Amino acid sequence: MQKLKIRGGRRLVGEIRASGAKNAALPILCASLLTAQDLRLTNVPDLADVRTMLKLLEGMGVKVVREGDAVVLNAGALTSTVAPYEFVKTMRASILTLCPLVARFGSARVSLPGGCAIGARPVDQHIKGLRALGATVEIDHGYVDATAGRLKGARIFTDMVTVTGTENLMMAAVLAEGKTIIENAAREPEVVDLAECLSRMGARITGAGSPTIEIEGVESLHGAEHAIVADRIEVGSYLCAAAVTQGDVIVTGCVPHDLEAVTMKLREMGAEVVTGEDWMRLRMTGRPKAVKIRTVPHPGFPTDMQAQFMAIAAVADGVSEITETIFENRFMHVPELERMGAHIRINGNTAVVSGVEELEGASVMATDLRASASLVIAALAAQGESTVDRLYHLDRGYERMEEKLRALGADVERIRS
Ligand code: EPZ
Repeated sequence: MQKLKIRGGRRLVGEIRASGAKNAALPILCASLLTAQDLRLTNVPDLADVRTMLKLLEGMGVKVVREGDAVVLNAGALTSTVAPYEFVKTMRASILTLCPLVARFGSARVSLPGGCAIGARPVDQHIKGLRALGATVEIDHGYVDATAGRLKGARIFTDMVTVTGTENLMMAAVLAEGKTIIENAAREPEVVDLAECLSRMGARITGAGSPTIEIEGVESLHGAEHAIVADRIEVGSYLCAAAVTQGDVIVTGCVPHDLEAVTMKLREMGAEVVTGEDWMRLRMTGRPKAVKIRTVPHPGFPTDMQAQFMAIAAVADGVSEITETIFENRFMHVPELERMGAHIRINGNTAVVSGVEELEGASVMATDLRASASLVIAALAAQGESTVDRLYHLDRGYERMEEKLRALGADVERIRS
């Protein structure tokens, strides 16, 4: 088990570069299944989830060649259309192989992703949409078994905004016969990045980034080159670390427009945030102010930034209210933050955070990806030494975090116990 040892109380100052987005890379890696030609991706982050996805695709017979931060995939000679449980149980995003496999090969057997720490996370909307496009889908011994001739375009209404649901259905529709309209579509930048990659492969998609996506199916897709969009959640996490340590940090290689709701909240807390074409700078002097936060689908405040902001709220001047509307159990960082001296009361899906002057370093345990980022941010602000355990959660979504933090002056080291 690996841990991060952090000695807090140091201002973060300096410049780092954003990595490619995990939540764009995962669906786009699956898009390689839609063509027999090479899909060449650059700015691919080196993360545990990306390595798992590449192993899953190689297990199906996809040829994978890594060239630095580039990956070339070729699904010209697939040997299997099965996504086995041992992969899916460690990475729910494996469900994103379901629709490309059915769209191109007419069959798929994908393990149902179990729930995870933050919620039950069903995939009923993925299945409902695939059935609407003409597939036969059965649930059999924990697997989704789907078969179809050529899928047929349809108008699909998802019951709620679902990011990977929208992505999966887009990948089904691009090879379907006729037009598909996805209503109530997710508007996240990662959905837009997938649509841009699919368009480069020859798909005909309009409306990505809006609640209504229209797709005109084509006979086949060809190879393409695509650079993965910068990770807005990684950028937001480092800006939170800068804010809570009263630092001065520049993040380059990012898309400021993608995290405007986060930037607005940081400004509300008293941070000075300046943005350029592909960079952001946050300066913070003095104690953060308390805020009210409510997580909603993009372009609103993202659920993936909720835990990180709670770490700032824990030392803010006043009482903050943080309401989580997307997932039913995304407050597991609360007891760990309390171990560091935070005063938090949970009221249904709202956490009421009474800011304290100072957190104390403590040994804490990560429970899920963004909770682990929250604990790192709190530890950077706390007086004294903290250890954050179960780092495999963090490694799923943050590339070389301790290196980037050290580049900003943090006193942090990874302990391989
Ligand atoms: C994506 O998960 C992200 N993961 C999550 O990021 C992110 O938190 C989430 O979107 C919300 O923005 C990837 O993109 C790989 P949803 P996803 O489908 O697609 C319910 C991280 O930290 N729902 O948008 O699984 C669901 O239970 C991860 O990087 C159904 O009920 O989330 C949830 O309450 C965590 N049925 C809500 O909708 C369905 O078929 C939104 O889920 C699908 C979803």
